[in-house]
Amino acid sequence: MQIKDTAAIVTGGASGLGGATAKALAAKGAKVFGLDLAASIEKADQVEGVTYVEADVTSAEQVQAAVDQAAGADVPLRTIVNCAGVGWAGRILSKNGPHDLELFRKVLEVNLLGTFNVMRLGAEAVAKTDPLTDDARGVVINTASVAAFDGQIGQIAYSASKGGVAGMTLPAARDLAKHGIRVMTIAPGIIDTPMLAGVGEEFRAGLAAGVPFPQRLGRPDEYAQLAVNIVEHDYLNGEVIRLDGSLRMAPR
Ligand SMILES: NC(=O)c1ccc[n+]([C@@H]2O[C@H](COP(=O)([O-])OP(=O)(O)OC[C@H]3O[C@@H](n4cnc5c(N)ncnc54)[C@H](O)[C@@H]3O)[C@@H](O)[C@H]2O)c1
Repeated sequence: MQIKDTAAIVTGGASGLGGATAKALAAKGAKVFGLDLAASIEKADQVEGVTYVEADVTSAEQVQAAVDQAAGADVPLRTIVNCAGVGWAGRILSKNGPHDLELFRKVLEVNLLGTFNVMRLGAEAVAKTDPLTDDARGVVINTASVAAFDGQIGQIAYSASKGGVAGMTLPAARDLAKHGIRVMTIAPGIIDTPMLAGVGEEFRAGLAAGVPFPQRLGRPDEYAQLAVNIVEHDYLNGEVIRLDGSLRMAPR
């Protein structure tokens, strides 16, 4: 699918992987709506072609309003990229007792329910656009993590949420096939984004050393490149792609 002269929604679009994807889609000629929380939008760079819209992905009303704004652009809304996400570390049992239930609920709510919320409302708008070749209308790209498959100690909530995102891929692609909407998921390994901002150089070097090849952290623009490839490749559908330099995470 051609990106030029289409509209796109990118959640988490003010930072990290979402920020890089919003920029890449805009550079290809899309009108991008970067959905994010106010605190992230305040810190975001102004990028030509990217309009930031304040919305919490877990809110039906806020996401509907943002989707309506994107669908009201003068070009058809064809791309939805879900990058909004949170990560918290906590074991099922620790010296402080069992895992906090509210924290588990919160991670699932943002990463899984939030992704689903944007996918369902975004898909409704994409389904109303005029069809292209093969009756194609658009594409949804969700973001899981390698933690969906090899979650580490302390990643119980995050892995559960990302396993859910990976698991939605095929049924979502099947559900949306009759509307001409493809659904793909990217499962990144360790990418150098603000999520890693707090870790020291030594820890960062240790993470990079665990990646077989290329032996470094991934870059946000490499995620964005794959997202662009997926939008442009009409036969990619219903699959989870690991983007990880063949990293397989150890227990800790
Ligand atoms: N960086 C990595 O190594 C890595 C690896 C695997 C998966 N991921 C996933 O990639 C996605 C992007 O991560 P990132 O590294 O760019 O992180 P990031 O913290 O730079 O960006 C995440 C963005 O999501 C936004 N967000 C959080 N909760 C939200 C909500 N309720 N509503 C709207 N926006 C919300 C944040 O404000 C932030 O701008 C996440 O889903 C993350 O789990 C990242």
